[in-house]
Amino acid sequence: MRVVIDTDTAGDDVVALMLALLTPGVEVLGITINCGNVDFDQQVENALKTLEATGRLGAVPVYQGTRRPLMRPWVDASYVHGRDGMGDSFLPAAAGRPAPGHAVDFLLEISRQYAGELVVIAQAPLTNLALAASLDPTFPDRVRTLVIMGGSNNAVGNVLPLSEYNFFVDPEAARIVFQAGFNIRLVTWDVCLQDGVLGREDLAAIDRLDTPWSRFFMTTQRKVWKFNRTRAGIDGTTHPDALTVAVAIDEMLWQEGFFAWVDIETAGERTRGTSLVDTVGAFGHRPNAAICTRADGPGFKAALFSMLATGTTGLQVRTRDFSRDRVY
Ligand code: BDR
Ligand code: CA
Repeated sequence: MRVVIDTDTAGDDVVALMLALLTPGVEVLGITINCGNVDFDQQVENALKTLEATGRLGAVPVYQGTRRPLMRPWVDASYVHGRDGMGDSFLPAAAGRPAPGHAVDFLLEISRQYAGELVVIAQAPLTNLALAASLDPTFPDRVRTLVIMGGSNNAVGNVLPLSEYNFFVDPEAARIVFQAGFNIRLVTWDVCLQDGVLGREDLAAIDRLDTPWSRFFMTTQRKVWKFNRTRAGIDGTTHPDALTVAVAIDEMLWQEGFFAWVDIETAGERTRGTSLVDTVGAFGHRPNAAICTRADGPGFKAALFSMLATGTTGLQVRTRDFSRDRVY
């Protein structure tokens, strides 16, 4: 399986990258950086650091992408992930440097090389993907699936009551991407809260593993745990991006879902970036996304534990038959 991961590397993005990098059978062709969680250059460093921690520095290129949203100022999330996006651990910089060239050019080029085969995992605001699809409207046809972490299935958000961070930061980009003709699989914030959280006992067990991977995990995730505990009422770490990578690799972890038309609110007074999942046929459009409503939480956790204990996830690349899912 060949993937590109578009990321705003901080917090759970790190775990998500590890998951892909430490699954045999997954070839990560490149990592592209989009503006998001923390300072852009820091995000680049964090991707390189994660490659170093997984022994892949130099083997997987990191491309710098868009430094700000299409039409709005950047929205910082370092209050969640730490100023460095790595739990305020201020690790020494990795020895590697980013690859020359722009992430958007890389996305277009690699999609030509692996047309029909390439899986793109988007775990950041969607600016790079929107630009790629705008520059070359045939880009979506060459991407086998675009697996997106973002939005909410007509449910709770994490920035506004109904708006999730990735879509909130660049709603115009998200709207462009959903209207561009990609084969989209969407993993929303609410399903991550349901199936992608590690609780206090899980974290204690990870701490006890005391491996290079578990130590890196605990260091980089400690700030988000504190934020969740003190500000979000969750005594644990949240893994929306890692869950998204997991269902992209092993589609059998995507247990339930449906197809519907999804649009992103760009003009709402209190709903900037809210994803509308049209399950009532209000807008009369054909579905543009598959939406996950239940993932295999225990299976996901087992992959994380295996990775943190042994350096390999144990995940298999499997495909799922989506044709029986309900279509709205
Ligand atoms: C998303 O926002 C980021 O902070 C996380 O990495 C994830 O991609 C969750 O809303
Ligand atoms: Ca992210």
